[in-house]
Parts: sequence; structure tokens; C-alpha cells
Amino acid sequence: MTDIRVLTDEAQYRAHNTLFRRAMHWGAPTDEQWSVTLPSYEPDRALAAFDGDQMVGTTQSFGSSLVVPGGARVSHSAISRVGVRADYTRRGVLTALMREQLSSLPDPVATLRASEGRIYGRFGYGLAGRVRKLEIDAKRAVIPGTPTGRVRMLDQDTADKLLPELHEAIGLRRPGQISRWPGWWARQRDRKTEAENSVTVVHSGPDGDDGFLTYKVATEKDFQHRLSVEDFEWATPQAWRDLWIYVMRLDLVDHVENEVPLDDASSWLFEDPRVVRTKDVFDEIWLRLVDVPHMLSARTYGTAEPVVVEVHDKLLPANTGTYRVSPDGAERVEEQPDLTIPVDLLGAVYLGDVTFSQLAATQRIEGTRLADADALFAVSQKPVCGTFF
Ligand SMILES: CC(C)(COP(=O)(O)OP(=O)(O)OC[C@H]1O[C@@H](n2cnc3c(N)ncnc32)[C@H](O)[C@@H]1OP(=O)(O)O)[C@@H](O)C(=O)NCCC(=O)NCCS
Repeated sequence: MTDIRVLTDEAQYRAHNTLFRRAMHWGAPTDEQWSVTLPSYEPDRALAAFDGDQMVGTTQSFGSSLVVPGGARVSHSAISRVGVRADYTRRGVLTALMREQLSSLPDPVATLRASEGRIYGRFGYGLAGRVRKLEIDAKRAVIPGTPTGRVRMLDQDTADKLLPELHEAIGLRRPGQISRWPGWWARQRDRKTEAENSVTVVHSGPDGDDGFLTYKVATEKDFQHRLSVEDFEWATPQAWRDLWIYVMRLDLVDHVENEVPLDDASSWLFEDPRVVRTKDVFDEIWLRLVDVPHMLSARTYGTAEPVVVEVHDKLLPANTGTYRVSPDGAERVEEQPDLTIPVDLLGAVYLGDVTFSQLAATQRIEGTRLADADALFAVSQKPVCGTFF
């Protein structure tokens, strides 16, 4: 019989972290790793499943905020450290953890990264945002024109102080982006210290600092290197272009890798767009609408005739019902639905990565008025998160 408990002290947190790491086939945290990880444990947010006095499964959330279409920031739970002890898998331990976590989350929306694509749909998470993994042939890449602002390199201490503030100011512009909690930055500082050649540069335009980029360079052969962009945020197109120019002018770099939103424009930066190659398109954001009425009211809508959407949610039945969505907003109604959709797929369309028409083509939603629903939920920018947790 699985018993789910909220963890309260450091010894339990460390056991939680060890169990999760072992489920991922990593070692237990060393004392040094643990001192960096401990601050990421916030009260009431770490859950574990127990069989008697033995911990057998884990999950956790971090408090954050999420940008939704229209630009509002909604309080958000970032879900992570999901693991079940290998000798307890496929006996319903994760199901018990997910049920308890969803019914007690303090935020109206949750997102996560999935280690495998089949795990979370059954718990109401939808695939809501994808990234394109680019590889650029740096030796052939030419960006015409000159930079308009200034790029400066930061030492590690300055980057540690400046980046959290700069991210808060410029990194919450696009649907799907999230604010970063103090424990996230502590882990990031640790990762950068471990990583050889991790460098941060900041861009300044006419109004001050308006972009930053962290990258790492790995040696492929003698005098041949591969640069991976690790963190890239910008507030203006000028900052975005200037930071690309900086990267492409670095000496001794043969290949550049970056993860970008699906509507990224970088191919058009280059004299020869073929220097940019898509290596992969990968799922990034899995989104769970925990409080559907709240979340439908939080975003804005495009121009179209109103559509009545019937939502089904087996795990959180309070969400099940019909909602009238119009350019003025969304409200709960007692009306005949135009469309019927399960909550995981409403999560998938919520940020604008996929449309109702695309989902209807897969036969996973039913109804009519697809074109109006598409126009209401249309977004001008594809979602991206850009913050791994
Ligand atoms: C993924 C994991 C947490 C699942 O835990 P679990 O306790 O085995 O899950 P449950 O028994 O509650 O499974 C619920 C359902 O999901 C299915 N399922 C769970 N994990 C699955 C997986 N990785 N692939 C396919 N199906 C999976 C189960 O078969 C079950 O289906 P059923 O109800 O039709 O029988 C566990 O396998 C694990 O720790 N994996 C390694 C670490 C990891 O990947 N963590 C996730 C990080 S994002």
C-alpha cells in the first residue's frame, strides 16, 4: 500500500534526491553537490511515496511564474525530480504521487520536462512547446552588416550577480518562458563552475543591458571546436543579431549548436541560409492546466466568433465543464459545446504550439468550428521556455 507524504526535513530531502538520482541512473549526491541542491527544496513542495518506512518514489515542484499568450505572468509550479525505485516501478507509485501532487499544487498551472514521451499524458499534461536544435557551419557562415551595440564578456562573479536580475527584466517576453527560482540559479552557478570554458557575454543597446548569452566550447580535434549555446535571452532584435554576430566571429569555432523556438529567424540572418541545419525537433514544455477556469481567463484571444469548448478532466473533475471563449475572454457556461477536448490537449493548444485543426486531424478531439477556435487561440510567437529544470 503506497502512502504519500510531504517531506519536511533535510534528511528526508537528501533521501528524496538520492532516490530520484538513482532512478535516473546517476550516483547519490556527494556532500558538495548536496550543499548546492539543498536550497532548491522549498517547504511543502517535495512529496515522496512510502511503503512502510521505505521511500519508493519522489516528485517535487518549484515555485515560479509562467508567461501566457497576451503577456500575463501566472504563478506556476515547475515539476521535477520524478522517480520511482526500480524495484517498485509499474505498480502505480507514480500514479499515486501525481494524483496527490495535482490535488495539492498551490498554482493554477504546472509544467515539466519529460524523460520519455509516454509518461505524462495520462496525468493531463499536454505537449505544449517544442524546440528546434540547430547546427551552424561556422566556417561558411557570414552575417552581413555590422553590430549596432556593444558586447562585453563577464567574469563568473559578475555574471552570477547580474544574470538573475537581467533574466527577470528581459527573459519573460514570450509565452512559455518562466521565472527562475533562487535554487535554479544556485545549480546553474555550480554547473558553470564545473563546465570548462563556460563564458557569459552581455549586450548593451541605447537603453542599457538588453541581452545575454552563455556558451561553452568543446574541442573536437586540434584547433577545431564546437560551441554550444546554453542560455540566450534578448529584449530587442538588435541584441539578438549582435549576439549572433559575436558568436559567429569567434576564432577557432567550426560548429555552433543552439536550441531555438520553432519560429526562429536565424536562417535569414546569414548570407547563405543553408549554413543552418535542423538536427532535431524535440519536445520541451509539457503543460498541465490545474485550474482550467483560471487559466482560460489568464490569456488573451484573437478575433473570431465565440466558441463553446467542453473540457474533460478525469484527475481534477472540477475542471470538467463547458467554457465559452471569445475575443473578450473565457467564462464557464451551461451551453451545447462546439468542441470537446481532454485537458491534456487543451494544455497542448494553450500556448499556441499546435492548433485545434491539427488535433482534429489526428482524431483526438471532436466537434466543429475549428477555424474559429484556431483564430481565438492563435499566437504571434511560438512558445518556448529556455529554462531547463
Ligand atoms: C517514469 C516512472 C516515474 C514511472 O513510475 P511508475 O511507478 O512505474 O508508474 P506507474 O506504475 O504509476 O505507471 C502508470 C502508467 O504509466 C505507464 N508508464 C509509466 N512509466 C512509463 C514509461 N516510462 N514508459 C511507458 N509507460 C509508462 C505504466 O505502464 C502505467 O500504465 P497502465 O496504468 O496502463 O498500466 C519510473 O519508471 C521511473 O522512475 N523511471 C526512471 C526515471 C524517470 O524517467 N523519471 C521521470 C523524469 S521526467
